[in-house]
Amino acid sequence: MQFFIDTAEIAVLRELVPTGMVDGVTTNPTLIAKSGRKMSEVIAEICALVPGSVSAEVVGADAEVMIKEGEYLAAIAPNVTVKVPLTWEGLKATRALSDKGLTTNVTLCFSAAQALLAAKAGATYVSPFVGRLDDHGADGIDLLSDIRAIYDQFGYDTKILAASVRNAAHVRAAAIAGADCATIPPATFKDLIKHPLTDKGLEAFMSDWAKTGQSIL
Ligand code: E4P
Repeated sequence: MQFFIDTAEIAVLRELVPTGMVDGVTTNPTLIAKSGRKMSEVIAEICALVPGSVSAEVVGADAEVMIKEGEYLAAIAPNVTVKVPLTWEGLKATRALSDKGLTTNVTLCFSAAQALLAAKAGATYVSPFVGRLDDHGADGIDLLSDIRAIYDQFGYDTKILAASVRNAAHVRAAAIAGADCATIPPATFKDLIKHPLTDKGLEAFMSDWAKTGQSIL
């Protein structure tokens, strides 16, 4: 399973990239706004830091504008993935951008029918929003399972990118449901390693080792 980090903060990525676990990055207009920086500069810096897919989202309302924005964003670096909203205009733009050989991520997916449309439009990735669906009283993980079954049944190669992930339990469940990737907020990424028994076990090993008076090197 690929791990993407859901952030537009360069300092955070500098901290996480050395783990060797950062396969890509996703941004959205909210995250860019939070960074307080110019989008093209932030995306260029992220792309230089992370060799994998870096999603940069278009903001135009119609396909023609989205295509132009997508081409502009894709020209920033070869690893830019153009993120497009799941609207009819967005799907038209996805088809056009995919036909031009660009990588696309269809975002704001909340139903299996929408995910089917994204695949038919030639999307490289589809982003089902797990946490926001849960907030809405639905089951975001069930949606991932449904999309997995549909894509496998028809042989679509669009990758399922679990988004709006809120906790380690979401990451676990997304992996079991067959998501190809998850985009994870930095704090949740750090939480993935936590287990009290690991801490307790290590403490005991270190204490017993100290009693031996040995050193390995
Ligand atoms: C990523 O592609 C999405 O924009 C992001 O995961 C949304 O997460 P949120 O629901 O926590 O804002």
